[in-house]
Amino acid sequence: MKNVTNIPCSDPCIGEPTEPTNIVIFGAGGDLTKRKLVPALIKMLRCGLLHPQSKIIGVFKNRTKETWLDSLYQGVRNYASDIAMDEQQWKKFSAMFKMVSGDLQDEKTYSDLAASLESLQGHTNAMFYCAVPPRWYTTIASGLHKIGLNNETEGFRRIVIEKPFGMDLKSSQQLNHELQTLLDESQIYRIDHYLGKESVQNLLVYRFTNSILEPLWNRNYIDHIQISAAESIGIEYRANYYEKSGALRDMIQSHLMQVMTLVAMEPPVEFTADAVRDEKIKVLRAVRHIEEKNIKQLTVAAQYGSGVADDEKLNAYVAEDGVSPDSVTETFAAVRFHIDNWRWQGVPFILWTGKRLPERVSEIVIRFRKPPFNLFDTHATPPAANSLVFRVHPDEGIALRMNAKMPGLTTDIQRMVMRAPYSENGEDVSDAYEVLLHDVLIGDATLFSRADEVEESWSIIEPILNAWKDRLSIERYRSASWDVPGMDTLFEDCVGGWHKPS
Ligand code: BG6
Repeated sequence: MKNVTNIPCSDPCIGEPTEPTNIVIFGAGGDLTKRKLVPALIKMLRCGLLHPQSKIIGVFKNRTKETWLDSLYQGVRNYASDIAMDEQQWKKFSAMFKMVSGDLQDEKTYSDLAASLESLQGHTNAMFYCAVPPRWYTTIASGLHKIGLNNETEGFRRIVIEKPFGMDLKSSQQLNHELQTLLDESQIYRIDHYLGKESVQNLLVYRFTNSILEPLWNRNYIDHIQISAAESIGIEYRANYYEKSGALRDMIQSHLMQVMTLVAMEPPVEFTADAVRDEKIKVLRAVRHIEEKNIKQLTVAAQYGSGVADDEKLNAYVAEDGVSPDSVTETFAAVRFHIDNWRWQGVPFILWTGKRLPERVSEIVIRFRKPPFNLFDTHATPPAANSLVFRVHPDEGIALRMNAKMPGLTTDIQRMVMRAPYSENGEDVSDAYEVLLHDVLIGDATLFSRADEVEESWSIIEPILNAWKDRLSIERYRSASWDVPGMDTLFEDCVGGWHKPS
């Protein structure tokens, strides 16, 4: 496909070509659009994965097109420094943009939108991206429905829904019900950007193309599995959302549970959306719901206090802008799940996440059982259990931790790490939004959550939410430290204990 923008293109054009499409972004004046969506669209365009005749239509109010485009350009410069794009190139690219000004509750907005959709090469394909707070999802779907914009006779019509998809089981069921009365399930793309990370998809390729893994991938060889997302940032400017959400909803119910399904699922019969999602839902159905009496023993909730990093003083969560001084919202959460099926019986899956930790690292640690006995009479380190670590970010790749002989005349043991970086030559690892937007355009829903998956994951989380909702106090950890109370106990019987990333 021709690169119409003159944006320097070093990337190979790998991926199914897409049809020209009207890409409609509701909430186009917001942060997600400038930080993620527009940079992803530029990269897709320059490597041929977005058809150059496509249009990008922003829906928002109280702004001129000029100020909107200016803020998008600033966004690209600030948040996507890898896109070398001068003003000239931006001008050329921004010819793809159109805007519809209006209120989301106003029917006129949708009729204006209908009028602005272009027939491109004989089709009026449209992707509707809801980059708005969740309370607007049904309003938008219903506005589209009323005017017939959900109708696929002139081209495909697909709606992308951002997280959070509900705040608990009841609200997610209601949202599913509302959307499914307005649109067909096949038109609904519930986005979870973790599934678009190349290293997460790579997990499936590692698992289902390397036959040496399968015999080990079960309770006979694996002691436990840790799936984690540590972040060094605090809640930044998102107090309003985070105060209602907390770490359990924000990261575990969505991203980390989705990753858990990929780690634990059986091989699907084929690599199609429903075959993969059928296997994922079986995992969720097998997750044991935690009884109230076990919540204390199987979960950890904590909140960051003040601290210091790089000589900079860091605020406690309760001192952040917009946070109530007596807030007990958790900024760190850990849950020890069990999957009651043949493969995983007795293997804890421990999912944990936290803000203001010393590092930004997300990984999956498969910790194998200990060697049955120690053959070597070592004075120094005894052999450690092997671990296979899938690094989601940064430094995507895998590492296998092994024992080896220490050089010298003894049989002393040292631990060594065999690393296989995902991208050896520093090639670009695609951003999750590029992958997922491209998937919506080609109609591949494999990496999107189906209604039943979302509800099942909320039903697993619900007992924890219920147990936590009336707490009056919460444990604290120092910002930029790993001193999270309760974590060592949660891993007490796990070989090797809590793996703190480094
Ligand atoms: C978002 C959460 O979904 O994921 C944020 O709402 C979190 O709180 C972010 O910071 C983490 O994503 P990534 O890709 O930076 O690991």
